[in-house]
Amino acid sequence: MTSLTKPEVTGFFDEATNTVTFLVKDPASNACAIVDSVLDFDYSSGRTDTKSADAVIAYVKDKGLSVEWILETHVHADHLSAAPYIQQRIGGKIGIGDRITVVQNTFGKIFNEGTEFQRDGSQFDKLFQEGDRFAIGSLEGRVLHTPGHTPACLTYVVGDAAFVGDTLFMPDFGTARCDFPGGSAETLFASIQKILTLPDETRIFVGHDYKAPGRETYSWETTVAEQKACNVHVGGRSQEEFVAMREARDKTLAMPKLIIPSLQVNMRAGQMPPADKDGKTFLKVPVNGL
Ligand SMILES: [Fe+2]
Repeated sequence: MTSLTKPEVTGFFDEATNTVTFLVKDPASNACAIVDSVLDFDYSSGRTDTKSADAVIAYVKDKGLSVEWILETHVHADHLSAAPYIQQRIGGKIGIGDRITVVQNTFGKIFNEGTEFQRDGSQFDKLFQEGDRFAIGSLEGRVLHTPGHTPACLTYVVGDAAFVGDTLFMPDFGTARCDFPGGSAETLFASIQKILTLPDETRIFVGHDYKAPGRETYSWETTVAEQKACNVHVGGRSQEEFVAMREARDKTLAMPKLIIPSLQVNMRAGQMPPADKDGKTFLKVPVNGL
């Protein structure tokens, strides 16, 4: 196990939410991990679909892989996690950052969840802290706490690959918004500096892509060197300049289409809220609450 190990990384792109799910495979065994899975959700009809998750499951089965981890970089606000659906079918432990408790407290209040909603992260199998190590077969993973977009955001570093979630996007697109409850542009700036101390050749895999103006294709892999040289939000900016840019830009952004269902599901590790006495499942809409 050295830092130069090169995991095999496959991206699955969900065009409906611009999310990339990554499958990270140990080249020396059949062990793999899945990062940031997607449960399809059509808000207008309230219907879920498993097409995105089934594509990942089919790949795992086809290649005879063994899923050791189902990792979340953070509580996503733009898509629902398929972690429990995937776990039920092909196994793996569901992991997220231990600051999930902060996120659960914030949104537990916003959605007026009762005391039955545990805010201790116990819905997840593993709560990671800064510096934690984990194994994917013979690969060693390392955890960086990289808050700013949300308080619980993590970057998973596996060999020469870093899964940065929504901290950095492709260099021509920039960085993630910091205006959700608990977000902070100052904190994101510091987290980005931390990611950029990884070796220049580190492959960076971003959690979303939206095609920057002038780019025709979706793309999700870059390097630390490219981010340092070309990121349109980061390059050459002081912390003050970055924060001013980020906060001004955030004021112009609409809420993600799926933020209301996503938060309620993802803060429960991808589980729907408990069914009512008739066995029916509902999601809430907080009126003027977000
Ligand atoms: Fe996000």
